Amino acid sequence: MPALTLKAGPDAYARAAALLSDGGLVALPTETVYGLAADARSDAAIRDIYTAKGRPSDNPLITHLLRAEEAARYARIPDLAAKLTIRFWPGPLTLVLPRRDSDLAARASAGLGTIALRCPDAPWRAGLVAAGWDAPLVMPSANLSGHVSPTTAAHVFHDLGDRIDLIVDGGPCARGVESTVIRVDDDGAALLRSGAVARADIEAVTSPLREPAPGAPLASPGMMHRHYAPQASLRLNAKAARDGETLIGFGPGFAGPSLSGTGDLAEAARNLYRLLRELDGPGVKLAVAPIPGGGLGAAINDRLQRAARGR
Ligand code: TXA
Ligand code: MG
Repeated sequence: MPALTLKAGPDAYARAAALLSDGGLVALPTETVYGLAADARSDAAIRDIYTAKGRPSDNPLITHLLRAEEAARYARIPDLAAKLTIRFWPGPLTLVLPRRDSDLAARASAGLGTIALRCPDAPWRAGLVAAGWDAPLVMPSANLSGHVSPTTAAHVFHDLGDRIDLIVDGGPCARGVESTVIRVDDDGAALLRSGAVARADIEAVTSPLREPAPGAPLASPGMMHRHYAPQASLRLNAKAARDGETLIGFGPGFAGPSLSGTGDLAEAARNLYRLLRELDGPGVKLAVAPIPGGGLGAAINDRLQRAARGR
């Protein structure tokens, strides 16, 4: 049966809580992208997430907390990590931390000694608690593995509508790119994935972030897989369309589709995956205007480079 879609609100959260208790899979909106949620304590439900997405089993998931204070139950929290949670949670920052023994399934972090934790800025945290659900959720982006992340309920339905139980529709996501992923251990903090929190804002708390050593074993396993890959070809830093190309603009002076007519990076992040999905298709040739690299531009350029390489 195709997934039911319900508007975010008490009825949707009640249905979501019941399905999660039954080991079901529920797509939920976050401030970054839509996620596919399952009970982080349930090995079987987590296995179903990997199957539904077609996700390689060595790519660990992010555990999403209903309350920021719960982090210490599941991970050891170095001082630097505590500072980051105070500054950025709830919000689009994921911390990879030394894992503690807990009731979470080993599969939640693909059997690693670390665990990724995030407390999203999303109304369903309170909504699920009110509906009687009170456990962390593993939640990868709610797309087929290898597709771009979904930023609307319709995107989720397109990829996973016949594989999951419920989609909670909270409208388009406010940020549009995934959370920033930072690993914190006793040696300091390292950037594993650029994302919705700009590097400079994190470095205001941590001092300079380390880059994971190139090729370091499993620094962030997900980044090694084919990812963010449209069917279309993609040419970056394009000043004008070549023969047969559709040019995606940024800033004033572009006629066709545009990430942001005013050159606003936050708007560009919100439009990025929607435009890639709308314009994608077999044989399509896309070109993208230059995007500055500062602030959110780092995440946008990272995703575009992956999309360009991914085919
Ligand atoms: O914004 C987001 O983070 C979204 C929303 C739904 O919360 N979630 C998301 O999850 O993007 P996913 O599974 O698509 O990406 C998680 C990333 C992957 O690159 C994965 O390899 C990395 O986080 N990751 C998770 N646990 C890790 C760990 N223990 N060590 C290193 N990297 C980890
Ligand atoms: Mg993903």
